[in-house]
Amino acid sequence: MTGKQTLPEASEDLRDVVLDVHDAVKYFRTRRTSLRGERAQVHAVDGISVRLRAGRTLGLVGESGCGKSTLGRLITGLDTPTSGSVQVGAELRDVTAGAGGRVQAVFQDPASALDPRMNVRASVAEALGGVGKAEREQRVDDAFAAVGLPRELGSRYPHQLSGGQQQRVCIARALIARPDLILLDEAVSSLDASLQAQVLDLLERLQRETGTAYVFISHDLRAVRQVSHSMAVMYLGQIVEEAPADAFDRGLLHPYAVALRSTEPGIFQGEEGIERVVLRGEPPSAVNPPPGCRFAPRCPIADDGCVQVAPELAEVSTGHRVRCHKPGELTLTRAVHADSATSGAADLGGEL
Ligand SMILES: Nc1ncnc2c1ncn2[C@@H]1O[C@H](COP(=O)(O)OP(=O)(O)O)[C@@H](O)[C@H]1O
Ligand SMILES: [Mg+2]
Repeated sequence: MTGKQTLPEASEDLRDVVLDVHDAVKYFRTRRTSLRGERAQVHAVDGISVRLRAGRTLGLVGESGCGKSTLGRLITGLDTPTSGSVQVGAELRDVTAGAGGRVQAVFQDPASALDPRMNVRASVAEALGGVGKAEREQRVDDAFAAVGLPRELGSRYPHQLSGGQQQRVCIARALIARPDLILLDEAVSSLDASLQAQVLDLLERLQRETGTAYVFISHDLRAVRQVSHSMAVMYLGQIVEEAPADAFDRGLLHPYAVALRSTEPGIFQGEEGIERVVLRGEPPSAVNPPPGCRFAPRCPIADDGCVQVAPELAEVSTGHRVRCHKPGELTLTRAVHADSATSGAADLGGEL
């Protein structure tokens, strides 16, 4: 080759990146047909790009049905995208093409994730695959110790353990193969508050010790905020705002993100007693979403332009992206009650 080599455009730094999701789309066909006889499609994940580095946690929040678990299934290779790509692990391999072991998952219900006929030590050991017996025994012991489970519990069956112990077994099983990335989908949601706090602390400690990256999915903003370095708010299959955790505390710009955050007053420093933003309208449907901004029908500040033209996800500062025609116009200090006839709690529908 002669002459000067051109650098790739915007030569992006991929060092330490263990998850690279590029324009991922997942549609599900439904049995329903429209008036024109077209098959309705659920736009469960509709053009999502995210990147995550080793040792970091990306939190995904949003109402039930916004596509969090579907995105999680794409990240773990349990499902293939309709289009787009998902690359995982330190070598950034396509998740559908032999990325096995680089990504592990922990789900909400540990009892159904564990084989009831196997003692829990065997369940953890099974995740390890082909290593010699002595090494396997040592690593299972280490995994039990890492998650704070007494070794003696290994001979028990899942139903003989508490929910918190079962979830520790699932975390041990996810960790033992030393994955680059662990997906945690509502992993603490079925635990009571004090157990939740213990497991979140455990996850943070394990991340410091192992450098494993986490994608932490929850409808519970409080839990997500505690463990995340950056957060993405999803609405009807799309990211509407993504921000580093500190920007999430101070400067959210998307009206939906502001509304979501306003339902959790007092968890962010110095914000006791902030007003709630009450959203109007129906809980959203991801079936054939409208052409303009998907949040417009419930947005307190939407205008005709918002209804007609879909906003792009635009970067406003490093790592902070917003999909809104009027970013920052709805703030917590200038909260707008969209429907003054609605009183009391925020009407966000779903689990939030
Ligand atoms: N296998 C499937 N077939 C059809 N629709 C699905 C399937 N899985 C999820 N969906 C739909 O996709 C949307 C997103 O679901 P999901 O990813 O489970 O949301 P979340 O985890 O945020 O609650 C919902 O409308 C849901 O009904
Ligand atoms: Mg889910």
